[in-house]
Amino acid sequence: MSVLTKSDSVVVSGQTPLFGTVTTQGSKNSALPLLASLPLFDEVEIANCPDLTDIHVMVDTLKYLGATGSFSDGVVKLNLRNIMNRPISEEFTNKLRASSLFLGSLLARFGEARVGMPGGCVIGSRPLDIHLNGFKSLGAEVDKGAGNITVTSNGLEGQFTLPLPSVGATQNLIYASVFSPSEVKLHNIAIEPEIFELVDFLNAAGANITFENPKTLTIRGVKRLNPIQFNVQPDRIEAFTLLVAGVATKGSVKVTHCRPEHLTAPLQALEAMGAKVEVGDDWIEASYIGPLKGIQVETGFYPAFPTDCQQQISILMALAETPSILSEKVFNSRFRHLDELRNMGAEIKINDNSAVIQRSENERGMIGCKVDSYDLRGAASMIIAGMVSEGVTTVQSLRYLYRGYEEFIEKLNRLGAEISYR
Ligand code: EPZ
Repeated sequence: MSVLTKSDSVVVSGQTPLFGTVTTQGSKNSALPLLASLPLFDEVEIANCPDLTDIHVMVDTLKYLGATGSFSDGVVKLNLRNIMNRPISEEFTNKLRASSLFLGSLLARFGEARVGMPGGCVIGSRPLDIHLNGFKSLGAEVDKGAGNITVTSNGLEGQFTLPLPSVGATQNLIYASVFSPSEVKLHNIAIEPEIFELVDFLNAAGANITFENPKTLTIRGVKRLNPIQFNVQPDRIEAFTLLVAGVATKGSVKVTHCRPEHLTAPLQALEAMGAKVEVGDDWIEASYIGPLKGIQVETGFYPAFPTDCQQQISILMALAETPSILSEKVFNSRFRHLDELRNMGAEIKINDNSAVIQRSENERGMIGCKVDSYDLRGAASMIIAGMVSEGVTTVQSLRYLYRGYEEFIEKLNRLGAEISYR
């Protein structure tokens, strides 16, 4: 069933342990920035792209600009020789924040870019000030219109220090600097695995980007990029989500085609809670081996515990024998799922961006009910909560799930879950 036609809610029957092996999808948070860089290219082929609504939106945006080609069987194959510099309106940026990444690549190709201001979303305000201050510091003109931004430049050069290691700002400033007339240095960049993949991708096409030190990039301008074929890395966040599902349901799940070294902090947290974690070169297995213990987790910039794994670990915290403290330090509003968990019986006290999470006082544990989702990681987490609660849980607003998880329901059912589309 195509991701574009799936039902917006599912019914989850509770307390079904998951056992078995499952393969990771291509990384959403790597594929999206690679696609946003494509105005820098004349033609490209990117494989292992997950079949997600966000990926379709990015491909549709590139076709709106004039790209021709296809996205099928996980492969995006596009010819961009004749793309035009059209404004990326709010219609696109409100649907998908990552479309604001076209600012940098359109600016590099055409010397001007106009993009609609991306909406904030349920996880936080998500401004673009670091992107825009970076463009200005490197010589661009930035004009904020009614709901859109225009950036113009005849070539960026110089240095910029990011006030915080924003992933998107790092990506946007890299794109904008690829054709610099001289060179650009970026300090205090984000160092998530998706940044390294973007640098590898662009360098494979002929860009000249080097790490001066772990947090500083030098981008020496080149004239053009060459056509390339590239494979997207595995999705580390999806991998962790599946492992949590195994431990939460008192089962054991092995995730293959993944990179354990991208999940050091989250796997340490799983072990600290009492799960058994085994890793190989390209696989991870997490097993429930006894009652879980509460822990303290604080999200942060890579390699700290990722904010995109926060909602998932909160489900394990709601099952643990002792209390946990969960602090969200990256986004200013990523706790909406905790209200839903409370409705299922978990004991949760929230104080600003920190929460004390305890299991339900009810000896039957959490009780299934109708719950809502507000973002993609929250949607996946509520499905896991349904699998560990007594009775039946209806999870709504799954449109968020399909933005980031390919075949998630099908993967869980193959592992032993009992989930049906409404
Ligand atoms: C990327 O978002 C990811 N999205 C997010 O994943 C992820 O949570 C985030 O990085 C942090 O790791 C994609 O890669 C498509 P940021 P991004 O700029 O780039 C503030 C998911 O669930 N900030 O690193 O938008 C911002 O408000 C999604 O897959 C500014 O203040 O994240 C936030 O508090 C959710 N000004 C913090 O920095 C700016 O100009 C981190 O944002 C930019 C960001």
